[in-house]
Amino acid sequence: MIAADLRVFADAGALAAAAAREVAHVLVAATREHGSASMALSGGRTPRDLYQCLALDHRHDTPWGRVHVYWGDERNVPHDDDRSNYRMARESLLDHVPVRAEHVYPMPTVLGEPGRAAAAYERTLRSQFDAEWPRFDIVLLGIGDDGHTASLFPGSAALTEARRWVVATTAPVEPRGRLTLTLPALTHATAMFVLVAGRSKADALRRALGDRPDPRCPASLLHAARAPVVWWADAEAAAHLGSRSSR
Ligand code: 6PG
Repeated sequence: MIAADLRVFADAGALAAAAAREVAHVLVAATREHGSASMALSGGRTPRDLYQCLALDHRHDTPWGRVHVYWGDERNVPHDDDRSNYRMARESLLDHVPVRAEHVYPMPTVLGEPGRAAAAYERTLRSQFDAEWPRFDIVLLGIGDDGHTASLFPGSAALTEARRWVVATTAPVEPRGRLTLTLPALTHATAMFVLVAGRSKADALRRALGDRPDPRCPASLLHAARAPVVWWADAEAAAHLGSRSSR
């Protein structure tokens, strides 16, 4: 099993509270270091608890006015669609903290053609990060039961994309149209947190932390990251990992 910073918690609530504390710490440190902080959000259900903890417990100890908010992936649906990652983050976090509107960069799903939306978002990112790859201060990710992360699915050509920062992909489940940051765009971050909760993720997490990176489990490819990846799991998701560190 790959040596990984794995933190196991009794339940999803304890995981969310602990991860939120650490996210707030990263944002404070980044702001002190270079005047602002950049965070790429994950979608799906798991991070909602973390976002709510950030809104409830870290509204006042985090410099939200200097935090820039991006997305690691998005479903290609309108922003008011209940499947939108933007809508989920707005409802659970962004409407409850004093982040500045001009510092929130949703993926432009209003464009009909996903390829154009991906290229537009890449232009947005390149306007904010003057480097070969974006260097987010923190990237939040989840993993699916099939081992996908962001919207990088098993067998996707996007897994080997080595030039573009953002691409359109097709998910095996609805909504199939997706936009996603590519692996190099994700893994040049300063910190990466992968949030994994629930028994349905136990096999995917075991595979993600397996002996070697495997494109059949895209989350396992995150080990190529420049920065350390912290895996935040509840006991159910960690059920197949044997005796590992726990909090
Ligand atoms: C998305 C996410 C995706 C998510 C996993 C896990 O758009 O759905 O970005 O990568 O992290 O699918 O989703 P859950 O947290 O809902 O299990």
